[in-house]
Amino acid sequence: MKITAHVNFSEAEESTHVIATFQSESKKDPTPESTHDEFSELLQKLAAEDVFKGKKGSVYFVRSSDAATPNTLFVGLGKAEEVTGETLRISGANIARRLDAEKVKAAALDLASFHHKNLKKLDAEDLALGLAEGALFSAYTFDLYKSEKTKVALAAIAFYVDDKNEVATTEKMLAKARAENAALTVARDLSNEPGSHLYPMELARRAQKLAKEHKVSCKILDMKALQREKMGALIGVGQGSANPPCLIVLEHKPKKAKKIVALVGKAVTFDSGGISIKPGQGMEDMKHDMSGGADVIAATLLAAKLGCENHIVCVVAAAENMPDGNAIVPSTILHTRNGKTIEVQNTDAEGRLILADALDYAQDYKPDVIVDVATLTGAVVMALSNVAAGIMGNDEGAIEDFKAAAKKTEERYVELPIFQEYIDDIKSKVADIKNIGGDRGAGSQKGGAFLKEFIKNNTKWIHVDIAGTAWNTPAVSYHPKHGATGHSVRTLTQFALDY
Ligand code: BES
Ligand code: ZN
Ligand code: ZN
Repeated sequence: MKITAHVNFSEAEESTHVIATFQSESKKDPTPESTHDEFSELLQKLAAEDVFKGKKGSVYFVRSSDAATPNTLFVGLGKAEEVTGETLRISGANIARRLDAEKVKAAALDLASFHHKNLKKLDAEDLALGLAEGALFSAYTFDLYKSEKTKVALAAIAFYVDDKNEVATTEKMLAKARAENAALTVARDLSNEPGSHLYPMELARRAQKLAKEHKVSCKILDMKALQREKMGALIGVGQGSANPPCLIVLEHKPKKAKKIVALVGKAVTFDSGGISIKPGQGMEDMKHDMSGGADVIAATLLAAKLGCENHIVCVVAAAENMPDGNAIVPSTILHTRNGKTIEVQNTDAEGRLILADALDYAQDYKPDVIVDVATLTGAVVMALSNVAAGIMGNDEGAIEDFKAAAKKTEERYVELPIFQEYIDDIKSKVADIKNIGGDRGAGSQKGGAFLKEFIKNNTKWIHVDIAGTAWNTPAVSYHPKHGATGHSVRTLTQFALDY
């Protein structure tokens, strides 16, 4: 879908007009307000008949009876003072979805009608950005392996603004939304690929190709290199699979970079659980267990495209967790790169194992901050469902910075504590630590406590557990109805830009 900026809405030739409506402050008057007086009677009638009241996220399509008159799509934004970027993304998605469902090929959106004197903290640019983000993000499909491809009617939305100067600033925002959408598409495509087609070295090849296109450097540590690096945990997780593990390192290194931000991702291209095998039902979803890796790759590419002034080191640990004669077994002791030993009590807690070596490797770059991203625990899904990701860390300042980035992107995170008791619970009788807790409580935080063991004392570190948000969040209208979401790509990028 193409979104472009234009002037003269009154002369728009598209078959459908998209017009904003707001709910008035006074509760007595439920009629949604619009800058288009010509619709006031119709809007009054729709509200009186309880059909359309301008509620946040709602849309209402009116088909015209003759070819000369355009159709109208009314967009409800709720109360103007409550509108946020998220309202706009949701509306943008609902606009695009409805237009497509109504088989509209090209629509003219009157951006001026989205202006309201009571809008808080939102200017013309934010309006264009949020609406474009929502429309573009929602149009994603994954039909690579379908003989019959998804039919899309909606080809273009033209955003009409008041004057020529505004066209240029709007176009800038549209370019940003396109760049973000491209990054989300990268993350979603990688995550949606099945285990049969995307195994560790294939992920590495794709990362390499993408890196080249984005002028980002890429280094791949294959099995031999992993052995040289003594990455016993990453090798251990991968050794039950016919597809060897690898480490992928991307670098965006601008001249005179001020800070070094390390982004580390879990990429288990398929998590069967290994010898501690998972139940069959829903196991297919474990093709998404590389979403953390996909997210950090996409965020690195996007930050580079947006001219990030910080040096970004992106480290992705990739392995396939399978049970076979060579697989690690509960009781295996792994020797990690940093010298610590791990007793594997459950081969399904493999994400923390591969991240242990990746986190240690990333610290060779002496980063100012490390963020790791992983579909690490089912426990975070129990705690937060698919509504928010869990974050943990060892530095309040860094966590605040992450929250500040998330405030801008409006992606949701909840901070979870790593109490000393959780650290004590992963001590092993036979090795330095074990990979699961002694009891079933606080599973996500014990995952965090485990990772913390591989962070050097003075390194600032944040752990993001996206097990709940990485796929299947149909309630977010700008996410696909099923499959990978790309949740965290925008926040990681914002964090890298702002740090
Ligand atoms: N990849 C899973 C976590 C997961 C579960 C992600 C559900 C998304 C949805 C991870 O490797 C895993 O299996 N973790 C175990 C850890 C346990 C054995 C301590 C879990 O959460 O059950
Ligand atoms: Zn697992
Ligand atoms: Zn896993």
